[in-house]
Amino acid sequence: MVRQITKDDMYDAVAPDDFASMIEVDRYGARASAFNKIIAATHDHFWDPLDKKYIDFDEPFDIENTPLIPEDFVPALQTKLVDEHLKGKERTRFINEVARWQLSAILHGEQGALSLSASLVHVLRDQGAQEYAANQAREEARHVTAFSKYIESRWGSPLPCGPTLKNLLTEMVNAPEVYKKIVGMQMLVEGLAMGAFATFFKESNDPVMRHLMQLVMTDEAFHHKFGKIWADRTVPHLTEDEHNIVEDWAAECFQTLLFNLVNPEQMKELYADFGLDWEEVMAAFLEAATDDERRQRMEESTDIFRVLIKTLLNAGIITDRTKDVYATYVNMEELKSEGDVMVGDAIAEEGIVFLQKVNFGKDDTSYSLAQAATAAE
Ligand SMILES: [Fe+2]
Ligand SMILES: [Fe+2]
Repeated sequence: MVRQITKDDMYDAVAPDDFASMIEVDRYGARASAFNKIIAATHDHFWDPLDKKYIDFDEPFDIENTPLIPEDFVPALQTKLVDEHLKGKERTRFINEVARWQLSAILHGEQGALSLSASLVHVLRDQGAQEYAANQAREEARHVTAFSKYIESRWGSPLPCGPTLKNLLTEMVNAPEVYKKIVGMQMLVEGLAMGAFATFFKESNDPVMRHLMQLVMTDEAFHHKFGKIWADRTVPHLTEDEHNIVEDWAAECFQTLLFNLVNPEQMKELYADFGLDWEEVMAAFLEAATDDERRQRMEESTDIFRVLIKTLLNAGIITDRTKDVYATYVNMEELKSEGDVMVGDAIAEEGIVFLQKVNFGKDDTSYSLAQAATAAE
């Protein structure tokens, strides 16, 4: 028996191969209205990665001489070993290959999100929840196209998925349990993505990358809210035992994602290409962790975890049992006092204003995600 842990009719779920349940006559009469608003809002943020009206991947960028992202966004450069090893053009090439690796990880994550939201359609019984998930699958599909196009324009091809991320994505896509899918993908991976997209948007030196991040965020902000709606309706009703299962799964996913991001083993080939041994880089990371100034800079480069930790905290998924897992990377007390506003929301709102102008010729200068991306009654 698979533990679905849904606690709300809207998330009523069946096994992925139980199609018979989907064509039960009684099922068609039931449709939760909770997702109506976020389904309807999808027209506001429509965009097409193949249409230059929205984004032009042919805009050139001098990748040989200009770093795509600032050095702060490359944790390895905060170590003495890598910092001293790479100078001049080789340093720029390294930064841009790390960016290629990061963007490739995002592309694989987008494919994971596409396959996962499609898989939700097979397990969620409610029609409204299915329509939401199908709609998300369609949006993830345009993200896969958009990141493929961007990577093609800058490097020709993506890098392979690191083993850790590959295993996590595979586990979530194939999991029959809804909580694993929603907590793992909608809350953690989407939360990490919002943090990363916001940082790329603010810090990238490439206007095309910045614009791409903003367009993707106009969709992701809603995906992230779907996870929040699930948590609001489910987490408060969990038994202690169920809560522990969800909390432990979240902590496990978090550690996996963090490991994927900073562990040099995940990008061995990349280091080898620059004459660096990944094990020596690993040792240098550990050394940097004992140096105050370097540690401070490393903390800044892992700041993208802020959004996802905050989501879990606000959803009541992190308690004293697991807070130490996260406390190493962000100041939990500071986070608690920050309230509900999410880092990427303002960027997404600005993106939707742009899309409404392109799509409908609207001249509105404001858009409220807080109003659009909520559960309808
Ligand atoms: Fe996406
Ligand atoms: Fe998404």
